[in-house]
Order: sequence, then structure tokens, then C-alpha cells
Amino acid sequence: MKVDLQGRIAVVTGAAGGIGRAIALLLSENGATVAVNDVSDRGVETCREIEKRGGVAKFFPGDVGNAESVNAMAAAVEQDLGPVDILINNAGINTGKDGRHPVHEFGDAAWRRILSIDLDGVFFCSRVFSGGMVKRGRGVIVNIGSVLGLVPIRLQCAYSAAKAGMLNFTRSHALEVGGYGVRVNGVAPGSILTEGTKDLFYKDKQLSESLLSHVPLARPGDTKDIANAVLFLVSDEASYVTGHVLVVDGGWTAGFAREW
Ligand SMILES: NC(=O)c1ccc[n+]([C@@H]2O[C@H](COP(=O)([O-])OP(=O)(O)OC[C@H]3O[C@@H](n4cnc5c(N)ncnc54)[C@H](O)[C@@H]3O)[C@@H](O)[C@H]2O)c1
Repeated sequence: MKVDLQGRIAVVTGAAGGIGRAIALLLSENGATVAVNDVSDRGVETCREIEKRGGVAKFFPGDVGNAESVNAMAAAVEQDLGPVDILINNAGINTGKDGRHPVHEFGDAAWRRILSIDLDGVFFCSRVFSGGMVKRGRGVIVNIGSVLGLVPIRLQCAYSAAKAGMLNFTRSHALEVGGYGVRVNGVAPGSILTEGTKDLFYKDKQLSESLLSHVPLARPGDTKDIANAVLFLVSDEASYVTGHVLVVDGGWTAGFAREW
């Protein structure tokens, strides 16, 4: 799909790697100038790749879970690149394999850390950028949730709660700003192949087969599958779509894929 994002300024949080990097590259390929945000300095590498392909990008480090850091990052973006038209709230974390515990054993620090990045982060970034969008009467926000925000999973209570919260936040925000020409949507990915999920699931044949037996399309998603969904939602072709959560999960949450 090719859309026209010429002249638009897009911020992508957590764009140093994985899904965020793929979104940043695709928005750039379609004409947007991209503000690449991340806590990791590897965000610079995403910018280099965009520039290598003829696009325009700049790295704005910052921690989305910290309001002061977000406000400083937003001020720097607007000063350097101008008013922001597109915000992609992509940065997110979960526990690793050894951090998966039942609620009665789940630690405060892990709970706080996940909620602060996956839920507070979406609020902080949406707040700071949507004010200008409302004033200018245009703007698009896409929040990257998870199917686990729609259908929870065992032993990942903080992630399931944060992602459910941010998807309802998405709809609530859409209600508030629709009258000002600003659209807010979500994308709920299923299991997507990244460096992180390769280590967690896909290096182990048995684990990989077990996970994919729940996915009708029988493969992990590609980061481009999520980037394509985001591209549609930010485009003018989606100008009547707001308050929607687009599920991109190979059919995982369509129903029970196996008989028993
Ligand atoms: N990969 C999947 O299977 C999958 C499935 C469902 C949802 N998601 C969601 O998609 C988004 C991207 O996931 P991914 O798999 O690409 O993860 P990833 O770990 O590969 O990338 C996440 C990026 O966010 C950055 N980040 C972490 N904390 C940050 C902070 N406080 N401020 C700014 N940046 C921060 C990391 O440095 C990293 O570059 C997340 O919101 C995740 O929950 C991923």
C-alpha cells in the first residue's frame, strides 16, 4: 500500500527496534518526516537506515514512562521539526520468561514498571501531543496494544491490565477529540517475530509449534504486518475511522483454533 504522507511530521515511540522500527521505516517510505524516540541510543540506527533509503528522520531520546522526559522530548521535536501530525505510541515492555508469576506472587516493581511504560507512557505522550493537534484541528494517533489487552493471559497480569487499559484509553481519547478533527485508533498485534520474541518463543521448535497451533494462519506475524495496519490508520484513506482497535493476529483471537 502506498499513501501520501508528504509534509507530515510523525513521532514513533520505542522505534529503535522491532515493530517501532518497521513503523518508522514505512511512514518514512510514504513521505513522512520521522521523529524516532527510544530510551535506547540504538534509535540512531533507525534514523541512519531511514536516511540511507532517502528519508528524513531525527532521534529524540526519552523515557515514555516519565512525564518530564516526555514533555522535554515533545518540546525538542516541535522545535526541531515543527508541529506533529502523527503520533504512534509503540514503546512497550513485558516481563521476560523468569518474570512470569501468578498475581499472588507478582512483585510491586515489575507491576509499576510495566504499567508506567505501557499505560502511563501512552497517556503522557497522547497528552503532550494531542493538545497541539486539537488546536490545529488535525492529527492522528495510533496506539500499539496487544491481543492480550483483549483476551488476557495467565502469569502476565501487569501486561494484560496495561494493554486493556490503553485500548480503552484509545477509545475514550477518540471520543474527546473527534470533534476537533483528530483521530485515535489502536492496533492489537498477536505474536510478531522480533529479536525479542525469537529468543522467547521461536528458537524452541516445540514451544513455537505449540504457540502457533493457536494461530489459524500458522505463522508469527512480521513487523511489516503491523506497520501496514498503522499506515492505513494514519492515512487519509482511513479518514472516517476513529475509536477502532484493529486486530492483526493471524486469527488468534477469532475463536478456538483447536478441538479438544
Ligand atoms: N512482538 C510482539 O509479539 C508483540 C505482540 C503484541 C504487542 N506488542 C507490542 O508492540 C510494541 C512493540 O513491541 P516489540 O515487540 O517491537 O518490542 P521491542 O522490545 O522489540 O521494542 C520496544 C522498543 O521500546 C523501547 N522502549 C522500552 N521502554 C521504553 C521507554 N520507557 N521509553 C521509550 N522507549 C522504550 C525499547 O528500547 C525498544 O526499542 C509494544 O508496545 C509491545 O507491547 C508486541
